[in-house]
Amino acid sequence: MYIKLKYVIGLASIVCLTSCRQTENKPSFIEENISFAQEQLGNAISVIEASGKPLNPVTLKKDSTIHYCSYGDWRSGFFPGTIWYLYELTGNETYLPLARKYTKAIEKAKTLTSHHDIGFIVNCSFGNGLRLTGDTAYKSVMIEAAKSLSTRFRPAVGAIQSWNVNRGWQGKRNWECPVIIDNMMNLELLFEATKLSGDSSFYKIAVSHADRTLAEQFRPDGSCYHVVDYSLEDGSVRHRHTAQGYSHESVWSRGQAWAIYGFTMCYRETGDKRYLNQAIKTFNCIIHHDNLPVDLIPYWDMDAPGIPNEPRDASSASCMAAALYEISTYDIPKAASYKAYADRIMMHLSSPAYRAAPGTNGNFLLMHSVGSIPHNNEIDVPLNYADYYFMEALKRKKDLEHL
Ligand code: GLY
Repeated sequence: MYIKLKYVIGLASIVCLTSCRQTENKPSFIEENISFAQEQLGNAISVIEASGKPLNPVTLKKDSTIHYCSYGDWRSGFFPGTIWYLYELTGNETYLPLARKYTKAIEKAKTLTSHHDIGFIVNCSFGNGLRLTGDTAYKSVMIEAAKSLSTRFRPAVGAIQSWNVNRGWQGKRNWECPVIIDNMMNLELLFEATKLSGDSSFYKIAVSHADRTLAEQFRPDGSCYHVVDYSLEDGSVRHRHTAQGYSHESVWSRGQAWAIYGFTMCYRETGDKRYLNQAIKTFNCIIHHDNLPVDLIPYWDMDAPGIPNEPRDASSASCMAAALYEISTYDIPKAASYKAYADRIMMHLSSPAYRAAPGTNGNFLLMHSVGSIPHNNEIDVPLNYADYYFMEALKRKKDLEHL
């Protein structure tokens, strides 16, 4: 009964969305979101500019002050990237020097070799800057960053090691070479670096990593594990674990979003249909999950024990929406249905249930994301990566609708 009701309501919202489209003009949804982003990010920019420092906002702390990060934090590329999207979506030249300044402020990240997140950091900031300006200095940063990321490739495993295990909480997990599903997102930097440099070694590392992940990180139902730990000696699998999900066998939502986005991107870069098939299989697992709410914004973990009284994760939803828009462009059965799902997600993320009122929410765009419940960290808060993928999804939707 619950499932049937869910689909009836879901169908009703598609019908509503379709008829709304017919009666209202499409640009209003996109333009209204762009104008909201201009206002809210404009507030964030004013705070940063008034400080005279290159502050890089990440989230709101429990005391309601903003947490800013430095270049080495895995989230340091998202705010600069969001400003690049703001520049692109508005065409307003006043954002260009700001996007450049916030990007330049994290350039030191190009030499990071202590974790895998350099792909997130450098591709979202410098990658967008390069795409929009063609600046050759950005090109050099991308190639240097790809070299840094490549130092973490472990030939015995055929994959990039995500985390070091010699200290911190990772040091207490008895792991040897943990590879997390998030790492799929870092591969885009490697694909780009091969195109920019002509050096195919980056491409080969990316494909090897994607292939090993495809072979080891998924369950038969299409959902993925968060962490696969490998032996550095012979490359065999030692553990299949979670770090940020509810349990080792549960469906941690952001992990699914990283897998859907990451394998879709790998299909774009290689043309290998197995990658797209996996992205779609993982999406099907989430979309048909009994616990998926009607508004399609996942719980932080789809198997969390307190559902329906568990926090949602808007960051998973926005990342998934961005990927679904891309999937909808490929020559596959029911391609348009992926755009319809993305549109539904975006409609709900843009509603007052998830989108902040201007001037609130620490000037972040979206409310209700989760960093890591097992670490008791960032629960039901705004997160800069939810905003980044929201802006990216908005841009992709705008392109698809030729607006
Ligand atoms: N890459 C870390 C996260 O998804 O929280």
